[in-house]
Amino acid sequence: MYFMSHKADDVRTLTNMFVEKPYYYNRFSKMWLGQGLLTGPGHIWKRNVKNLSATFAGSVIEGFQDIFNRQAAKLTANLKKEIGQPPFDPLHKYFAYATLETICQTALGVTPLSDSIVTPEYYHAFNRNLQLIVDRAFNIFTHPDFLYRLTPGYREMKKNCAILHNVSRTVIELRRKEYEEKKKKELTNEPDAIKSKFRPFLDIIMELSDTDPLLTDEQIRNEVDTVILGGQETSATTMLFTLLALGSNMDVQEKLYQEIKEIFGDSKRPVQKEDLARLKYCEAVIYESLRLFPPVPAAMRVIETDTELDGVTIPAGAMFVLNVLGAGRSFAAYGPDARKFRPERWLDGPPINPASFLAFSYGRRACIGKRYALTFLKTLLTHIIRDLKIHSCYEDLRLEFSISLRASHGNLITVEARS
Ligand code: HEM
Repeated sequence: MYFMSHKADDVRTLTNMFVEKPYYYNRFSKMWLGQGLLTGPGHIWKRNVKNLSATFAGSVIEGFQDIFNRQAAKLTANLKKEIGQPPFDPLHKYFAYATLETICQTALGVTPLSDSIVTPEYYHAFNRNLQLIVDRAFNIFTHPDFLYRLTPGYREMKKNCAILHNVSRTVIELRRKEYEEKKKKELTNEPDAIKSKFRPFLDIIMELSDTDPLLTDEQIRNEVDTVILGGQETSATTMLFTLLALGSNMDVQEKLYQEIKEIFGDSKRPVQKEDLARLKYCEAVIYESLRLFPPVPAAMRVIETDTELDGVTIPAGAMFVLNVLGAGRSFAAYGPDARKFRPERWLDGPPINPASFLAFSYGRRACIGKRYALTFLKTLLTHIIRDLKIHSCYEDLRLEFSISLRASHGNLITVEARS
């Protein structure tokens, strides 16, 4: 039995009470992610979440700013090559790669093995795995493991996982050696190299494993791969929808440009911590894009005990579907212009009821990468919009609803240099 709602009271109650996700979340992804935070069963999540939340602390994200700036500059330079060219799809041509490279660098660190972990083989394996999970979800005959193992999809997934795991495993082994050396040095009081502000997720989780024996190297790999999956497609899709919206709302784009100009003048300097706090309209643009185009349009929880809502008893075992897309477009929550792209509505703070904005989900199993995402996206948008004018054809936009929200039509942009 499925129960779908975006009523703020229902959302708040149920997402605070229950943390279990449907069993197939884990079944479809376990070859890749094991029992990582995003798809793992509730009891494993409860055991790990507190520790792992520490990896998303403000000071950790601040340490990623150089990487965000470097990636934003690279992405902008790539987009500049499109000036005067026909309309193109920025998601597949640029955003997917840029976000994957950024997340890999911040999750695993830049290793001496190679400056870029994301080889074409890795990129292909990652994207194919995302598609294979969707294909399995929509084909009920492949749901049981014993049937799935007979399919070409399973064989391909296995091959892709080997490629992806090989990268994270190699980096983990290398980092493990470095970490043990560092600990030895500390014991013998040898001076350490200059402490860097940049600490990849992997290093932090490795430190946690000193006091948590359940964080084995395999579990560490699962968590790191989970972070990469959780952050990559969501950030890339948000960039796509934000540029599509900006490209058809030139007044909004101009306001954003003016905000950037006020902060940076004519300088092309990197975005710094102090700038992020001042980029208020930019943040409103991102929230407005996420409200109308949430990359994860629905999320699910299992109702673990009989629960009464509005006089109706929802039995234990039923699924609660959070209607993320519906919540963001609700007239009751956002008023008669709910379908309009109007970032100004965020300038006075979040909606009256925070449980009516579900792009990062809500309650106990909400996204822990929200701060990372906002910082990264603000940096990308600043670099792009201060150099380029974006044009799109919003009226042609058609949405496709799979596990993630996609644009099946009207997803092309053109770029123009700012004079
Ligand atoms: C705009 C960008 C993002 C959006 C819209 C988004 C959205 C979400 C949503 C809706 C969930 C809950 C999924 C569910 O209940 O099934 C979630 C969970 C999660 N997200 Fe994000 N996310 C974003 C960026 C990121 C980033 C950048 C990272 C990491 C770097 C990340 C890591 C995670 C993790 C680890 C979880 C699982 C949390 C848990 O179960 O405790 N996300 N995200």
